[in-house]
Amino acid sequence: MGMKGKRVLITGASGGVGRATALLLAGMGSRLALQYFSNKASIDSLMEEIDGRIEEEGKEEEERGSNTIIKIKADVSRYEEVKAMVDRVVERFDGIDSLIALAGYPMHREVWFADPLELTDGMLDGPWSVDLKGSYNCIKAVVPYMRRQGNGSIVLVSSTPAMVGDAHGLAYTLAKASIIALTRSLALVLAPEIRINCVALGSISTEANMRGYDEDQVSALLKDIPMRRFGTPEEAARAIAFLASDDASYITGKVLVVDGGEVRV
Ligand SMILES: NC(=O)c1ccc[n+]([C@@H]2O[C@H](COP(=O)([O-])OP(=O)(O)OC[C@H]3O[C@@H](n4cnc5c(N)ncnc54)[C@H](OP(=O)(O)O)[C@@H]3O)[C@@H](O)[C@H]2O)c1
Repeated sequence: MGMKGKRVLITGASGGVGRATALLLAGMGSRLALQYFSNKASIDSLMEEIDGRIEEEGKEEEERGSNTIIKIKADVSRYEEVKAMVDRVVERFDGIDSLIALAGYPMHREVWFADPLELTDGMLDGPWSVDLKGSYNCIKAVVPYMRRQGNGSIVLVSSTPAMVGDAHGLAYTLAKASIIALTRSLALVLAPEIRINCVALGSISTEANMRGYDEDQVSALLKDIPMRRFGTPEEAARAIAFLASDDASYITGKVLVVDGGEVRV
């Protein structure tokens, strides 16, 4: 995949899928801006691991360290913070080739399993403001720069319940379904210079996701997955990197489902 030298902003880089995506792209020689929200320890260990890995692979000095990889703290639900983050990335890297928007509101079991007809405004607002509005804010901030350059790629993240519905997690499902609508709608607006796609992930074995289920729930979920296992963050990362890369140069407005065959649509 041709991601060498590409200037990529990854939101949610301190999370499980974000980390795997950052490691994959760092190995391909991308220049990375890694956004985190509250988990400084996670982003710091990721930065260290990337530096370590690159060093081990014996790459050139100038490809390492702060010139290649930067971390930025931001709340993606707040446009002014997103704008400041994107401005900083562009200033540092002299442009931006890809936005990979993975930031997602943390799963809370009591909200996930709440009666879908009893959701409060607060329950509905979390995924809406971080997953959906956060993605929108990032797009709004990067597009003027990408348009000026005459190219760019954007990858968002949705989820399989957004495609087929789910009796649980309605607030999350609504936000993730809107991300598909956002992808399809903006593909029409951003072409031909900028491509926008999303991955719809099934069950991926990140720490955050595994925390949400007990053993019985995991067994029940596995019965519905033809591959009989959860996907790994690395498998999600490869699909994301593909859509961000020039290998997907004729693909826009699409949803790439990464779910071990669970959803058949
Ligand atoms: N894992 C799955 O099975 C699965 C399935 C379908 C879709 N997805 C989606 O894939 C994405 C990554 O999933 P994951 O399992 O890697 O989740 P995760 O480990 O919980 O990561 C979530 C990321 O979002 C960041 N974040 C949370 N609130 C934020 C805010 N207000 N502003 C900016 N960043 C914020 C977190 O930052 P801090 O940790 O620094 O606070 C973290 O980096 C999410 O959007 C998720 O909904 C995951």
